[in-house]
Amino acid sequence: MENNFTMIAKTFFGFEEILARELQMLGAQEVTAGVRMVSFKGDKGFMYKANLSLRTALKILKPIYFFRVTNEESLYKGISGINWSKYLNANQTFVIDSTVHSERFNHTEFVSQKCKDAIVDQFRERTGSRPSVEKTHPDLRINIHIDKDQCSVALDTSGASLHHRGYRTATNIAPINEVLAAGMLLLSGWDGKSDFLDPMCGSGTILAEAAMIACNIPANINRKEFAFEKWNDWDNDLFDMIVESGLKKVREFHYTIKGYDKAPSAVEKAKGNIKNANLDEYIKIEERNFFDSEKETQGTLHMVFNPPYGERLDIQMERFYREMGDTLKQSYPGTNAWFITANLEALKFVGLKPSRKIKLFNGSLEARLVKYEMYEGSKRTKFNNIQEESDE
Ligand SMILES: C[S@@+](CC[C@H](N)C(=O)[O-])C[C@H]1O[C@@H](n2cnc3c(N)ncnc32)[C@H](O)[C@@H]1O
Repeated sequence: MENNFTMIAKTFFGFEEILARELQMLGAQEVTAGVRMVSFKGDKGFMYKANLSLRTALKILKPIYFFRVTNEESLYKGISGINWSKYLNANQTFVIDSTVHSERFNHTEFVSQKCKDAIVDQFRERTGSRPSVEKTHPDLRINIHIDKDQCSVALDTSGASLHHRGYRTATNIAPINEVLAAGMLLLSGWDGKSDFLDPMCGSGTILAEAAMIACNIPANINRKEFAFEKWNDWDNDLFDMIVESGLKKVREFHYTIKGYDKAPSAVEKAKGNIKNANLDEYIKIEERNFFDSEKETQGTLHMVFNPPYGERLDIQMERFYREMGDTLKQSYPGTNAWFITANLEALKFVGLKPSRKIKLFNGSLEARLVKYEMYEGSKRTKFNNIQEESDE
């Protein structure tokens, strides 16, 4: 396709393969997974579709120029070599985000400043006036990436990170990032073909992402805006068509999705967020202590949750993780239970052997997504070998 161009979808460590699979399923060309990113090709419509639909992408960049950079002058010259009037006019605003892995430049602020000067000078020379910098709501977001002596210049097609889905207004004490929640669900193999429970649902993020996956609802259908809406070539009709065709693929869901939390304030927030996401017909939330609960449904139950880790929530971790293990063992036969924790010490107290262990990060905290398989009709877990997926 001659209108295809390369794009870079950024993601979290550990999600590269599932993001690549998401892209392939959407119809991307030349999908290649890297570190915390996946590159692919598509046209303008696909750029809209990717932003609207991808669950595990944080941002989608459109590279426009590459050059070799050895010092301040070559950086300025390289940026001046781009015809910025193609993307921006003097009455508009822009901002530059830089990432730098180079011995020659160690301050991202300096790089952004130098690039800004080059862009502004080009406009001044050509038109006598200049676009201004606007950090929070710019018309154009430019991404500069310097790796050793290679500089790549890209347009940020998304704007604010794509985890800002638009449905979560109320948060509790330690809400999980929406992209992290969606990635955990996809890694767990959640496909909407069984009942689902988040027994410590907090503000309801995992529940909302689980329902959207089950019903094949585009991840960012509730989002208010994308950066490309301010571009010169913005095609509203094309975008509307893509939204419409995404909504046509929404499928029915015939199981139950439930959330428990023992804190009344969390239950209230979760209910509000689920309503905002228009998902209340699929999700039931109850004020409940997981440790006093038992499996309520027939058939296999899929469980994904984010228990307290202990750093931010003050509880007795050893007892808490032991009670999690005991509850799973005694009250949840026929359950595949997955949870994420950054408290690797506390994991030992669960008293069950995980059948999967995947290294992820929750913010800056190194974490593990673990799976415990609880057999039906028995109070034992499946003691198979742990698949080593972390780099330990
Ligand atoms: C880390 S937060 C979960 C955050 C959630 N994933 C979100 O995105 O908002 C942990 C939650 O577990 C709840 N919790 C702690 N112990 C519980 C228990 N025994 N039963 C049910 N909920 C519990 C807390 O009230 C808190 O809301």
